Amino acid sequence: MKKHIQRWLQDKIGIGQNRDQIKVLENKIASLSLLFEWSSEALIQVPKGLIEKTKKTLKEEYQSINFEISRNDAMFRYPLQVHGAMPLKILKEYFHTGAEAADYIYDFAPNVKKILDFGSGYGRVSRFLKVRFPDAEILVSDPKKSAIGFQIENIKTIPDDYSPVNLIFAGSVFTHLPKKLFQNSLHELMNRLIEGGALILTLHPFIDNEFSIYPFTEEAALTGLEDPMDSMVYGSVYCSKEFLEFCVYSHTQGNLFKCSIDDSSSFGGTQQYIIIERLNR
Ligand SMILES: C[S@@+](CC[C@H](N)C(=O)[O-])C[C@H]1O[C@@H](n2cnc3c(N)ncnc32)[C@H](O)[C@@H]1O
Repeated sequence: MKKHIQRWLQDKIGIGQNRDQIKVLENKIASLSLLFEWSSEALIQVPKGLIEKTKKTLKEEYQSINFEISRNDAMFRYPLQVHGAMPLKILKEYFHTGAEAADYIYDFAPNVKKILDFGSGYGRVSRFLKVRFPDAEILVSDPKKSAIGFQIENIKTIPDDYSPVNLIFAGSVFTHLPKKLFQNSLHELMNRLIEGGALILTLHPFIDNEFSIYPFTEEAALTGLEDPMDSMVYGSVYCSKEFLEFCVYSHTQGNLFKCSIDDSSSFGGTQQYIIIERLNR
């Protein structure tokens, strides 16, 4: 029996004539991916010429941002995995998403002095905030220690000190948090705002259902990332407008806040901006 199974396996995935081509391809990709993990450095070695081409597509004021990309940055690695044959497109998307978010925040509040990039990851946005707001303190927070380490070393942002801030940005973070954590994190961030301050976050377009969460995330599709997120606390989240408003106004001082939905402009091409302002009393 054992021999029979061995022969069948060899026939399917080994040297037999009936080998399963998809399985062979899968194994080949897995081994290439392993070779990449073993040989890659902490920073992705993007060819200089491609960075120069990407730079030319960015505004003058963003020519001086840091262009290093961490090998653990799922925001770069996942699109790379999906559109690997189009490197310039992936680089442009990565950097333009950050640039557009920084512009959006600047247009909303050009004079803020303290900004928190909540769930900042490996600095897709904070590297642009650093240059767009040269006189402001740019704080960053993320459960991934490696992300904060990368930011301190390369982008020179400051780890969150939990002090009050003028502006909080949470790009593609609430699109991942389970229901209770969504609500609690929202209230914690609202507590951090000084009067007149604002929390800008992004969400997928609203759905009719109150709240839906799925385990299919960019993290789950990648292997070999440092500090991977557990799917129990990190999913793909869709919610209704009513759920969002309930979360905002159920804050103990909900009447001091105003929640606006801006679907005229988008983050990363798919997410809408939500602005939660702490009103002056
Ligand atoms: C989709 S990524 C976006 C990263 C970054 N904001 C950007 O736009 O490039 C989501 C980020 O949220 C972080 N995150 C996960 N759970 C979090 C939580 N409970 N609080 C804050 N950030 C969290 C993840 O580690 C990850 O860096």
